[in-house]
Amino acid sequence: MGREFSELSTNGRQVTLNRPKALNALSSPLFEELNDALSKYDENKDIGAIVITGSEKAFAAGADIKEMAPLTFSAAYSNNFIAPWSHLANAIRTPVIAAVSGYALGGGCELALMCDIIYCTDKATFGQPEIKLGVIPGAGGSQRLTRAIGKSKAMELILTGKNFSGKEAGEWGVAARVIEGGKEELMAETLKTAETIASYSRVAVVAAKEVVDKSQELSLREGVEYERRLFHGLFGSKDQKIGMTAFAEKKKAEWSHE
Ligand code: CAA
Repeated sequence: MGREFSELSTNGRQVTLNRPKALNALSSPLFEELNDALSKYDENKDIGAIVITGSEKAFAAGADIKEMAPLTFSAAYSNNFIAPWSHLANAIRTPVIAAVSGYALGGGCELALMCDIIYCTDKATFGQPEIKLGVIPGAGGSQRLTRAIGKSKAMELILTGKNFSGKEAGEWGVAARVIEGGKEELMAETLKTAETIASYSRVAVVAAKEVVDKSQELSLREGVEYERRLFHGLFGSKDQKIGMTAFAEKKKAEWSHE
């Protein structure tokens, strides 16, 4: 897209973490760039889905341990260290797919878990090894992994620091799809799904993402009511009329995204 990034590259609607010397360890400057790239994609109404990926060897091997090593409690606390990582989960309304090949450890696993969908290769390696460094997951891993796989399994992984495979990520529901092969096969499948999502009405897509996200936070009754309100709201969109008229007329819907 003609923008300059030192440690990640962007192409179309895809962000590629590109810090090979440190296996895409997520330093604060790298995360700033990532947030900036995500915001720009999110503001671009021509982009209907975003993909975050890394290299064949590493999606991301965690937060940057060398940056964190000298950190003090007072600096971490007063500067709210790692809080900017929540930008993806809190502010990005366009669906984001993580395409994970290789290591997704610590903050790398947490970054993938913040995305709306995870696709991975069967040889991917996930894990929350922070316990081995004398700390705990700090970017939502204890919460999102537990919601994804249940308390006992998450507790075992977080307390032992044991990794889990891409195949297990698929079996446990962490990953929506496990692709056999390498990065090329992974990207082909990921981009197909991104294109499918991008082919629908933006209004409906944003609403669908919002209601699924709410299921992680609300009681069932509140969530169902929330969903119904947004469902009602979509009858005020142009695209509801376009979609349903096209169905009745056996035509392809030409979305207005309004
Ligand atoms: N931070 C900083 N540098 C890292 C890094 C990280 N998380 N992970 C890897 N690197 C660096 C290594 O230090 C090494 O650099 P040098 O060549 O300068 O020594 C380079 O990347 C290549 O790494 P290895 O030589 O270790 O590669 P490997 O193939 O032998 O091992 C690995 C790969 C198993 C992923 C190993 O690098 C590793 O264990 N990395 C750390 C994983 C980790 O503990 N992540 C959690 C971080 S804490 C966190 O994320 C907190 C949070 O919740 C937000």
